Amino acid sequence: MSQYRIAIVIGSLRRDSFNRKLAGAVMRLAPPELTFKQSLIGDLPLYNQDDDGNQAPAVKRLKSEITNAHGLLFVTPEYNRSMPGVLKNAIDHASRPYGANAWAGKPAGVIGASLGAAGTAMAQQHLRNTLAYLDVPTLGQPEAFIHVKEGLFDENGDIGIEDTRKFLQNWMDHYVAWVKKLAV
Ligand code: FNR
Repeated sequence: MSQYRIAIVIGSLRRDSFNRKLAGAVMRLAPPELTFKQSLIGDLPLYNQDDDGNQAPAVKRLKSEITNAHGLLFVTPEYNRSMPGVLKNAIDHASRPYGANAWAGKPAGVIGASLGAAGTAMAQQHLRNTLAYLDVPTLGQPEAFIHVKEGLFDENGDIGIEDTRKFLQNWMDHYVAWVKKLAV
């Protein structure tokens, strides 16, 4: 395979989300053989099992984007020591109906940024637990808990702190190898 399509799922709907900025900056650290497209989750209805046989157009769109991707990249904040509800809602939608789990088998990366120093560690752990159940192999190391501080993003939206940029480049190199190894 020479080209890999990556679906990015961002766990924040906030207009000025740090995690959306992080997703943009990290994408630009990838080699050209990876192409990234954000899968939007803000217009999904609240998951209701009654609708499994008649999924909303936004749910069908998400499922087809995930199905067409070779790999996944989750970039999420932490809300109250877990993943945001909007992200869990999206994961639940695309995992159903039973037997039609769109996430299964897609190699994934999990990263996140928060204002707190230990930020997103618990959210990422909860997310990994859910993804493991859904048969999504997640890159284990390196982990990436990005602490948002002054200068993290430069005026172009790239990582403005040299050590953090190098750390994330190393993360990306491992992620690329993970995707190449497991993508089908
Ligand atoms: C937060 N925030 C937060 N931060 C953290 O490190 N651990 C946490 O458990 C929480 N909990 C939490 C709950 C709720 C409801 C909100 C709105 C926020 C702060 C969070 O890191 C901060 O708002 C980030 O800016 C969120 O990421 P985005 O939206 O900038 O990507």
